[in-house]
Amino acid sequence: MSDWDPTRYLRFADERSRPFVDLLARVPGTPRTVVDLGAGPGHLVAAIHARWPDAVVTGVDASPAMVERALVEHGDEARFVLADLRDFVPDDVPDLVVSNAALQWVPGHLDVLARWRDLLAGGEAPSSGRTLAVQVPANQDAPSHVLLRELAATEPYARWTAGTARVHVHRAAEYLDVLARPGWTADAWETTYLHVLDGPDPVFRWISSTGARPVLAALPDDVRPAFEEEYKARLRAAYPERSYGTVLPFRRTFVVATRD
Ligand SMILES: C[S@@+](CC[C@H](N)C(=O)[O-])C[C@H]1O[C@@H](n2cnc3c(N)ncnc32)[C@H](O)[C@@H]1O
Repeated sequence: MSDWDPTRYLRFADERSRPFVDLLARVPGTPRTVVDLGAGPGHLVAAIHARWPDAVVTGVDASPAMVERALVEHGDEARFVLADLRDFVPDDVPDLVVSNAALQWVPGHLDVLARWRDLLAGGEAPSSGRTLAVQVPANQDAPSHVLLRELAATEPYARWTAGTARVHVHRAAEYLDVLARPGWTADAWETTYLHVLDGPDPVFRWISSTGARPVLAALPDDVRPAFEEEYKARLRAAYPERSYGTVLPFRRTFVVATRD
């Protein structure tokens, strides 16, 4: 289970798409070309085209399974490239670079953003400017992640899981330090979404296809089930089921920077 599972990831597609729509809503102008860093299974192209129907979109992702799903399901809507977003260099400078819920997987991504900032600052920009728009989760101190780190640090699991529960996110102010430069207009905010989820163990189902994936993947097949049962029990206690569903509060950081 070392690669992503697009089917499991897409189970919460509505909830996961909402921040992307909120991010795009703050992008000015009409970008003609868009690069999506960490585009996943490609379903978010629809949100880009809902706002700018003529935009030419390139999705970049390092997961073979995600890119394959994107090509099969959305290959006629956008170009999808299998590449590490740290190395990807576009043929032409795009009008808009977006990244939704992906940079937390990339250590040192402030340097990646600085590189894109410098790239977008070069050459002749369209009248509405060029924009970098990113969203990263800001829930590393939520019970879902604290419980994961705590359990992963206990024996017998710790011998396999050391270092796997780390996420690479920065405070909103640090993103602003990189992107809010003279000649740029920057907009940063945080939003906590209260997702109401259905069914049994919904928080486990949510996080096991994303944030908990590296921890679960590090465990041997015969050890993983016991870890999952204990983690589910702790999540059920932290996120009790109510008559209308289970509430998962999820905080996210957004930064939109436009070169004037
Ligand atoms: C949580 S998914 C987000 C997918 C999509 N942007 C969305 O919002 O639904 C994170 C994606 O980032 C990709 N990713 C992680 N590290 C990457 C890297 N270094 N280069 C390119 N893609 C990467 C993963 O393969 C995965 O598809």
